[in-house]
Amino acid sequence: MTTNKRIILSSDHADIDLRQAIAKHIKALGWEVVDIGPTTSESTDYPKHGEAAAQRVASGDCQLGIILCGTGQGIMMAANKIKGIRCGVCTDTFSARMIRQHNDANMLSLGARVIGEGLALDIVGAFLSARFEGGRHAKRVDMIKALEE
Ligand code: RB5
Repeated sequence: MTTNKRIILSSDHADIDLRQAIAKHIKALGWEVVDIGPTTSESTDYPKHGEAAAQRVASGDCQLGIILCGTGQGIMMAANKIKGIRCGVCTDTFSARMIRQHNDANMLSLGARVIGEGLALDIVGAFLSARFEGGRHAKRVDMIKALEE
């Protein structure tokens, strides 16, 4: 299926169930989901999963990405090392909207040991429904991009 609403999902071992709940939720919102695992709760290293998801967004294959680890912090740090990625950890819906509207975030990171499923799904919904406002924010995002050069 070819769509401009394709989203990549990945996590480490701490968040398999929440990641699958998010996948179901996003599909119901009309997105094509590319879930690159992992599929078992065997201990694994979050940097490689953050990088793999971020590469799919940076390449343009997926428009957005959602990644998870215990806190959301480690996998976010890894994803943000990939050129073109702007990923924020959110524990509230206001921040999830704002990182799209003001920061043009293309990835969202969640901490499965920090927030429950209900809040996580609300945060995902806020992130996906918000749009970058451009204007004065575009200049600031360009300044972030310049730091990558
Ligand atoms: C794994 O135990 C844990 O360190 C990881 O999920 C994450 O919280 C790292 O930032």
